[in-house]
Amino acid sequence: MLEGKKVVLAYSGGLDTSVCLKWFEQQGAEPYALYLDLGQGEPAEDVRAKALKIGAADAYVRDARAEFAYKYVAPAIKANALYGGKYPLFTALGRPLIAKKLVEVARDVGATHIAHGSTGKGNDQVRFDVTAASIAPDLTVIAPVRDWNMSRPEEMAYAEDHGVPVPTTKSSPYSVDANLFGRSIEAGPLEDPDHEAPEDIYELTTTPEKAPDEPGYVTLGFEEGLAMSLDGEELSLVELIAELNRIAGAHGVGRVDMIEDRLVGIKSREIYECPAALTMLQAHRELETMTLTKDVLRFKAAVEQRYAELTYDGLWFTPLKAALDAFIAETQKTVTGTVRLKLYKGYSTVAGRTAPQTLYSQELATYDPNSTFDESAAAGFIALWGLPARQWAGVNSGVEHKSSTAAK
Ligand code: ARG
Repeated sequence: MLEGKKVVLAYSGGLDTSVCLKWFEQQGAEPYALYLDLGQGEPAEDVRAKALKIGAADAYVRDARAEFAYKYVAPAIKANALYGGKYPLFTALGRPLIAKKLVEVARDVGATHIAHGSTGKGNDQVRFDVTAASIAPDLTVIAPVRDWNMSRPEEMAYAEDHGVPVPTTKSSPYSVDANLFGRSIEAGPLEDPDHEAPEDIYELTTTPEKAPDEPGYVTLGFEEGLAMSLDGEELSLVELIAELNRIAGAHGVGRVDMIEDRLVGIKSREIYECPAALTMLQAHRELETMTLTKDVLRFKAAVEQRYAELTYDGLWFTPLKAALDAFIAETQKTVTGTVRLKLYKGYSTVAGRTAPQTLYSQELATYDPNSTFDESAAAGFIALWGLPARQWAGVNSGVEHKSSTAAK
């Protein structure tokens, strides 16, 4: 039923999507391969050549790093989005963009189908499918790996039978996904949640024990919630993330080991390394504590939680996400300033912050007698603030008490 149909496949160059590509060709479909550069650091041209060799009608490479950084990562930072309080969502942020680009290529070549290589156990299938449903409900999405239920040896056999290049190196037991904002490692021995992650899985972070004995400092500059500079130098967000990954990673900062609740109901053990993501989020949150009111901070915390969940759950292109973005954008107008972080053996701690519109007032806060804070106003405030508590206790605690008017 795919005979003569144009299908655009999100192609990574790996075994799964290579087998998909061949299979589409065997079905008589006209498969197009799209490799999206999100900063995963692979040689894109090699991947393109491989797709053509396997039998793609055409193969495209698109550099989407800047779009990813500014349209997906930046809003998530403004939202302080951390799933389960730990995962900065880099994979979850990349999927809707890949789906969007698949749709763009589908429009260009006049395809009726788009395809991805996700399995049926993960979150990524949901993110691709729901994004497609949200932005191109007329297209059909196919996920051959999910539908076949082929094991890796079966895929290898299929590949060998059909002349698809198979990986020659001993295959890693891990499943790795990476983009400029982070790297995830799952499966293999990590499936035992009590098995400490071995050192050789890490690529972006130094073992804290081997990190420099001297702390390092970085200063991040933000304008309206967007990270603009590193140690005073203005950088594009793509460059800034790369540089911060390097600096913080060298100090062993950025590792996460967590049990995560997948959308499909499974708990999974995940290892992440994302030095730039965690330090940027830390700095951004810190700057907000200086520049946003208590009410906004408290309310925004609930929004942030919801934002992280909807991002994780594949609901990026939805009205709720757009509405939350509007709220968050309003809050970011004063989130300008710098945050200095101290990096030391796996830890990042805040060493200082400045903001032109800071709400922190040393004159008010100081314990110096010249403080502008009127302490005499405090007692009356507290009498009224505590009135309901006093009233309740008087009625219910059985203890004699002064009437509320006599509280002073
Ligand atoms: N658990 C993370 C998430 O759901 C990372 C998934 C990585 N994806 C992958 N195909 N290896 O966002």
